[in-house]
Amino acid sequence: MAGLIPRQFIDDLLARADIVELIDGRVPLKKAGRNYQACCPFHTEKSPSFSVSQDKQFYHCFGCGEHGNAISFLMEFDRLDFPDAVDELASHYGMEVPKEENNLSPGEQLKQQKAYRQKQDDYELMGKISSFYQQQLKTADDKDTAVNYLKGRGLTGEVVKRFGIGYISDNWDGMMNQFAHVNTTQQLIDLGMAIPGDKSRPYDRFRGRIMFPIHDKRGRVLGFGGRVLSDGTPKYLNSPETRIYHKGHELYGLYEAKQANKQLDRLVVVEGYMDVVALAQHGVNYAVASLGTATTSEQLQTLFRTVKEVICCYDGDRAGRDAAWRAMDNALPLIQDGYSLRFIFLPDGEDPDSLIRKQGQAAFEKIINQSKPLSEFLIEHLSAQVDLNSLEGKSKLVDLFQPYLNKLPDSLIKDGIITSLANRFVGGVEKQLIELTKRSNQVTQKKSVKVNNKATPVRFAIALLLEHPHIVKALPDITILQQLHMPGIELLNQLLTLCHNKPDINSAQLIEYFRETPQGNHLSKLMFWQHGITNEAAEEVFLDSIEKLLNTFVEQRTEELLQKGRSGQISPSEKQELQALLNA
Ligand code: CTP
Ligand code: MN
Repeated sequence: MAGLIPRQFIDDLLARADIVELIDGRVPLKKAGRNYQACCPFHTEKSPSFSVSQDKQFYHCFGCGEHGNAISFLMEFDRLDFPDAVDELASHYGMEVPKEENNLSPGEQLKQQKAYRQKQDDYELMGKISSFYQQQLKTADDKDTAVNYLKGRGLTGEVVKRFGIGYISDNWDGMMNQFAHVNTTQQLIDLGMAIPGDKSRPYDRFRGRIMFPIHDKRGRVLGFGGRVLSDGTPKYLNSPETRIYHKGHELYGLYEAKQANKQLDRLVVVEGYMDVVALAQHGVNYAVASLGTATTSEQLQTLFRTVKEVICCYDGDRAGRDAAWRAMDNALPLIQDGYSLRFIFLPDGEDPDSLIRKQGQAAFEKIINQSKPLSEFLIEHLSAQVDLNSLEGKSKLVDLFQPYLNKLPDSLIKDGIITSLANRFVGGVEKQLIELTKRSNQVTQKKSVKVNNKATPVRFAIALLLEHPHIVKALPDITILQQLHMPGIELLNQLLTLCHNKPDINSAQLIEYFRETPQGNHLSKLMFWQHGITNEAAEEVFLDSIEKLLNTFVEQRTEELLQKGRSGQISPSEKQELQALLNA
């Protein structure tokens, strides 16, 4: 990880961004009163409940509750993680994201900047090489061999184009001839496209192969997989790990799946490049491949950030089952209610490519719909290791379960697994099961935050400040509430300080400070609380709320001092303070 993005940059970026323009480019908006509207891109609806506010630089859907600022929108809509969303937004406005907080030395900062530019340059070069490979499919002398190979595998030009599939003839320098200059030779080696060679004459890594570009979530080319046309070895040659390509983080076909689906509901994880492409050819536009590795935690995180339903599709053999088990183990901590992980084991000798070509889309989707839920896979796999006819066996099974249950967050899914374990294997181990449930719940207990928009002065003050950060100026002293103790007051004080220190801050910037904190959720909800206070009245109501809070403070403090007085522990200065309070 290259380090944190400086807070100041995020502030600047959000000040520059225009959420209306940003969203309008993806979801056409209509003006409706002060705000803009559209049908919500995050759930299906017929009449628009998705609202975008220019003043607040914030969007909110009254139907499904999705909300956020420009960064959040890119995270949700383009399905990017936070750093990528910031990057995307920055490049939209021609800004460069500095990395690392400023405790770096100037030399290190320069190094970071150079690395950043280097990467941009790398992406560009890889993109050009990918275009070159695609063009070779149309112009190479032996292009017919390649085109016939792809046709023979049942692919149409349309799908080949959609996946950016290309070709490179079997020469030593087909790519190098085009791209190797004084400045790029080392870069091509670094990017795994060229092999240094003995006599310092680097040559093409990929030769005589069908080329599959591997895109990141944003469509940048990071690397390639190349397949031989005949029976040569290795069958597939892949880009090595480079400064831009880390295979355990990427999923082949994810970018293409996102492009093909306005809304992705589920993703199928398969093993091969050709499986992904063949499934797309037959209408299954939601397959990705884990690039030859067992599906990693990073890949699973990406998957569950993108969809709620993930189906892993493996061979029915031992290796396939092992791969599935490892994927499941990596996925357990990510499984919450509403999310599902299921498994398909294909008949011996079949892969998704061969299966869908023989049986078609409907048959394949039927198999997907009948896939094995996580719970069933878990129970079957563990039960196979014990003798269920004996009490010792049952007891051992319960023990085997413990570590897996501990990894699962508390959820109905987890309860379901325990129940089905109990239902299947009752007799002698009930007590142990009850213990198991208790123990695993203790490990993973989490408190959820409930928001209750009761109209208290603290809530009013927070909501109004969020909507109109500038009203802080009406307050002569922002520290007056600092001694007050009551729920929410700490958050209000934090907001007062932020608004005071940054007089031009807007709502979207303000709320950005609380991303992924428990308060953030709270604040987002308060932001769209329909409290009925007009913009004109905002300042007055705000000051009124503060005054109410001050009165409470006076009461609290008076009570506190009276108490001290009664127990004889009051100091002379406190006595004076009490007098003043009582006279006020
Ligand atoms: N793979 C690889 N290197 C190899 C063989 C396989 O990287 N030498 C990876 C590739 O990502 C490949 C996947 O493992 O797509 C599955 O391999 P395999 O089942 O052997 O090939 P298929 O995908 O069935 O390829 P094809 O249908 O083209 O024969
Ligand atoms: Mn295959």
